[in-house]
Amino acid sequence: MIVTVLSNESLRPGASDLRIRADASARRPRAGQFAHIACGDALLLRRPISLCDEEAGVWRFVFEHKGPGTRYLAARKPGDTLDILGPLGRGFTCEPEDLPTLLVGGGIGVPPLLLAARRLAGTAHAVLGFRAASLAVLTDELASLCARTAFCSDDGSLGTRGFTDAVARRLLSETAYARVLACGPRPMLRAVAGAARAAGVPCEVSLEERMACGVGACLACACRVRAGAEETFRRVCLDGPVFDAETVVW
Ligand SMILES: Cc1cc2nc3c(=O)[nH]c(=O)nc-3n(C[C@H](O)[C@H](O)[C@H](O)COP(=O)(O)OP(=O)(O)OC[C@H]3O[C@@H](n4cnc5c(N)ncnc54)[C@H](O)[C@@H]3O)c2cc1C
Ligand code: FES
Repeated sequence: MIVTVLSNESLRPGASDLRIRADASARRPRAGQFAHIACGDALLLRRPISLCDEEAGVWRFVFEHKGPGTRYLAARKPGDTLDILGPLGRGFTCEPEDLPTLLVGGGIGVPPLLLAARRLAGTAHAVLGFRAASLAVLTDELASLCARTAFCSDDGSLGTRGFTDAVARRLLSETAYARVLACGPRPMLRAVAGAARAAGVPCEVSLEERMACGVGACLACACRVRAGAEETFRRVCLDGPVFDAETVVW
């Protein structure tokens, strides 16, 4: 769909906060789903960016400037148009239950957890980790949408010094959770999945792979998963990006 940019602001140096108005006919996105966004005529491949938030048909994307695609998106102005496919992929399980859900986000894996926190209607707990306070995003908004929030950073400049999995392990030992939803770098996901398994709590992880078509046709994004006793491949764009952590071959 061709959409109009409503706003595009700097969130901090090197990160942007882009809002568009989706078509009235577009499906309501689930947390963990992504949009595949065309980034100008010079780039053949679209770039996948997670839905960070959605309210009344306004979709929000928070992204770091990495290369030509994300720099193109960062330069869009209100009133410009973008060519977007989405919402795509399989999202997180986000139903408020008797027990809270624990959200665990690392770095630029944090944005999709904002939509998860919104869909969980204030019941979620969150652990958010960044390399340093200067690289943090969405901390105040997540704190206001969650019942409990803990922060950590590699250098101790935000919250406790250390990694998200250590904080998640502590919360999992103190509180009974319905499930853990995690998004961030792969080593973090693996460690969080281990903490959830040790606590006997189901865990879903959002995997990141480079993508081409984004709709299941090219196999560029294949990842290894277990299906029963067998190992096989799944497409992150279509079968994921969210997977049951127990099926992922780390
Ligand atoms: C499902 C999904 C959701 C995503 N959501 C977000 C988001 O909400 N916010 C955000 O900032 N980023 C997100 N990303 C990552 C984002 O797609 C890439 O940063 C972007 O495609 C880079 O494009 P570029 O042209 O700016 O840089 P490129 O020149 O294409 O790449 C710059 C650098 O980033 C690395 N890179 C590119 N794509 C990926 C990838 N998919 N995984 C790991 N490394 C990569 C490249 O190897 C290179 O080192 C998501 C990726 C996926 C697969
Ligand atoms: S990107 Fe083409 S199949 Fe996933």
